[in-house]
Amino acid sequence: MKQLIKTVLLLFFLMEGLYAETIKNSDTIEKARVKLGHRLFYEADLSINGTMACATCHEQRRGFCDGNRVHPGALDDNGKRNVPTLANVGKFKNLTWSHDHLSGLAEQSLAPIKGTDPVEMGMNGHEDEIAKRLGQNECYQKLFAAAFPQEKGVVNLGTLTQALESFEKTLISENSIYDQAKKKHKKLPTKDARDGEKLFFGAAKCNNCHTAPLFSDDAFHQIQPKNLKVYNGMRDNGLFDVTGNEKDKNVFRTPSLRNVALSLPYWHDGSATTLQDAIKKHKLKTNNKLSAVELRKIIAFLNTLSDESFINNPQFGKPSLECK
Ligand code: HEC
Ligand code: HEC
Repeated sequence: MKQLIKTVLLLFFLMEGLYAETIKNSDTIEKARVKLGHRLFYEADLSINGTMACATCHEQRRGFCDGNRVHPGALDDNGKRNVPTLANVGKFKNLTWSHDHLSGLAEQSLAPIKGTDPVEMGMNGHEDEIAKRLGQNECYQKLFAAAFPQEKGVVNLGTLTQALESFEKTLISENSIYDQAKKKHKKLPTKDARDGEKLFFGAAKCNNCHTAPLFSDDAFHQIQPKNLKVYNGMRDNGLFDVTGNEKDKNVFRTPSLRNVALSLPYWHDGSATTLQDAIKKHKLKTNNKLSAVELRKIIAFLNTLSDESFINNPQFGKPSLECK
């Protein structure tokens, strides 16, 4: 009997040791993937002519979007939609302005790399070229080997997009003036911002859709009339283009308002150039009846959602030339 107990205990400790080792290994692998994904995010060789990286459109200093209405692709094709910010992107179930069944960040990243509506990085049909370019690079050989030991460091769209996903999940913005005040149970610094906060969560009902703490409910809404415009020859019917359901025409996903003061212009088509325009453009009674003073106060509140530590964090910035 004693022997049996001993054996069981021994087995138990062995299993636990093994379990701890597995966790440690998967932590190390995840860290290696983040490091690789970080470098890939800034890699212009992911585009057909070596001119465009993810970071070309998703700029850190603007909360990971850009200042254009829409951004042309590597071959100068017109862009279709305004570049969204990537703050806290790992916490959303739905991705892009109007897609409801992308499986996650890895799948999403295939859209810029090889998408054709519109062409962004232009790699459709040239996927092998990416493996060839990166596979010849000593730094990438090292980084892929550390990030994908089970896959023997293979460079392909599968491993590459997984690494991009790991990096994107680290893009967390939760240290704005608003967050700092909440953490310390303090009030916002100015009276305008405090009044704006009250309106945002109260009478103006912004929080119904731009729900804290992500400042988006990750859901789809139709907040503009259905008369569709054509931009650069491209029609954008929102969620309808994915589902084909009439009720989804001009339905878009609520964008997060974190770092919104840095991310102009606004709306899925970049058609609102100021925060004021962006708010007034909602065809909602609550938005339309806001007075100029109320609008100013809400904007003062939105300004407290900018996160300086997020836009200056070197872990998200351009990686050093040195391979480390
Ligand atoms: C030419 C500009 C451009 C480039 C390059 C680009 N993106 Fe984007 N990105 C966009 C636009 C525009 C959207 C919105 C697309 C839509 O709604 O259909 C977007 C959306 C996204 C989203 C969804 C964000 C959200 O909140 O829903 C993620 C994630 C993303 N891009 C990551 C990447 C990654 C990773 C790369 C590099 C492989 C990349 N992007 C390259 C313009 C770009
Ligand atoms: C019924 C849901 C809903 C309510 C309520 C709402 N919004 Fe929006 N908001 C949206 C959607 C959806 C968009 C994207 C519209 C588009 O691009 O087609 C948006 C876009 C925005 C944008 C532009 C963001 C960007 O990055 O382009 C701002 C700013 C904004 N809303 C602020 C507010 C404020 C402030 C309030 C309250 C006064 C408010 N919204 C109320 C759903 C809502």
